[in-house]
Amino acid sequence: MSLLHRALVVLREDLEAARSQDPAARSSLEVALAYPGVHALWAHRLTHRMWHTPLLRLPARLISQATRAATGIEIHPGAVLGRRLFIDHGMGVVIGQTAVVGDDVVLFHNVTLGGRSMTHGKRHPTVGDRVVLGAGAKVLGPVWIGDDAQIGANAVVVKDVPAGAVAVGVPAQVRERAPKAVRPVEDPAELIEYVI
Ligand SMILES: CC(C)(COP(=O)(O)OP(=O)(O)OC[C@H]1O[C@@H](n2cnc3c(N)ncnc32)[C@H](O)[C@@H]1OP(=O)(O)O)[C@@H](O)C(=O)NCCC(=O)NCCS
Repeated sequence: MSLLHRALVVLREDLEAARSQDPAARSSLEVALAYPGVHALWAHRLTHRMWHTPLLRLPARLISQATRAATGIEIHPGAVLGRRLFIDHGMGVVIGQTAVVGDDVVLFHNVTLGGRSMTHGKRHPTVGDRVVLGAGAKVLGPVWIGDDAQIGANAVVVKDVPAGAVAVGVPAQVRERAPKAVRPVEDPAELIEYVI
């Protein structure tokens, strides 16, 4: 497979990921034109390749900062992002240089994958596959978030979270899932008719 063909496969996957994760997304064209999370991800796919060539590191940083100005999403070119990542809304997302993010992860706005120390070396989180990070969640330090974990909106995670766990609060604690309350299903179409 040529480089161009591989790039097209990945870009198409990114569009499909946004469409499958966001019920509001109506077409791939709409996602490609109007989703800042997708724009930031595509810019990162370019800057991350540039990061491996020492002479291109400064241009990579400049593209990353220009993308931040345009989208509100700051992803360091050194961060390793998996396939089909979906950044919903996006504004305020920060992903640090040594962060690693798995496949099929969903991030909402204001998520930080940040450091807790100013030392060199690995200082940002490692996020497994299929993890959901709620709006405003902060994951700090070289912690590990296991596959399929869910991090609540506004949680501050400073310790490892096991695979499949739900972690909420400040500092985040792993919670049992409460049984869901049963509530009558409302058909939005009927509701609109009723209101009109
Ligand atoms: C964490 C989350 C994934 C859990 O969802 P869930 O699997 O349905 O789990 P539950 O709702 O059963 O919650 C488990 C417990 O954590 C609590 N909880 C859930 N989310 C919480 C949050 N963000 N902060 C604090 N507590 C939270 C619940 O009240 C419940 O507590 P209880 O056992 O005392 O009743 C979800 O609540 C969440 O925060 N998702 C992020 C969504 C988001 O950011 N959306 C932005 C759209 S723009």
